[in-house]
Amino acid sequence: MRLDRYLAERLGITRGESRKLAASGRVTVDGAVCRKADTRLEESVVRVAVDGRPLAGSYRKYVYLMLNKPQGVVSAAQDRRDTTVVDLVREDFPRRQLFPAGRLDKTSTGFVLLTDDGAFAHEILAPGRHVSKTYLVTLDTPLTEAMCRGFAAGVTLADGQTLAPAEVRPADPDDPCLVRVILHQGVYHQIKRMFGVYDAGVNGLHREAIGPVSLDPDLAPGRWRELTEAEVLALQDAARR
Ligand code: URA
Repeated sequence: MRLDRYLAERLGITRGESRKLAASGRVTVDGAVCRKADTRLEESVVRVAVDGRPLAGSYRKYVYLMLNKPQGVVSAAQDRRDTTVVDLVREDFPRRQLFPAGRLDKTSTGFVLLTDDGAFAHEILAPGRHVSKTYLVTLDTPLTEAMCRGFAAGVTLADGQTLAPAEVRPADPDDPCLVRVILHQGVYHQIKRMFGVYDAGVNGLHREAIGPVSLDPDLAPGRWRELTEAEVLALQDAARR
């Protein structure tokens, strides 16, 4: 990736404008002023700043973002009616074809991973090596022994589909309706349908973690940050294990 193309992508400006920006001496690469727009950036190691302000993250071939999805936002790249998870970050990545790796319901909140790396998304979502997902769930009725046993054995949904074993346990000793669920597969409305088998309703659903990576507690709803290199590698490792 050349510096002028990177600046154009990150700042939403033309190549010509990036070349002028570099020539003006306002751009630094790894701390040193860089006026040569054709400078090649090596993957994952380069920090570019304009007027001393670093552009979010170092240059990367692909983008990996952790977003805290608010309620009412849909997990899609675009939608004619609703705000999408990609709309929440588009301004910062105007030229990237970002999409959510996995879905969260419109009413659910929490960790959504956005990327433009199709192979990576495929790897962590592929059936058979699906990376686990951890959810904090608020039920409309207390957790029962039958639910715990059923989840561990593999719930059979109303349509006859039998799911892989999942984990459910109390999340708060003072609130029997607050539970933590860990899934190892991704089926549409999975948690709501699993509890539905036990006539339990879901009042709140928040994704806390994807595999070994937890949602950053500093991210308010609607906010995002780039995954660190260690987090990307940890997700890849989890998929390959
Ligand atoms: N299960 C659900 O029912 N909804 C989600 O958003 C995620 C898992």
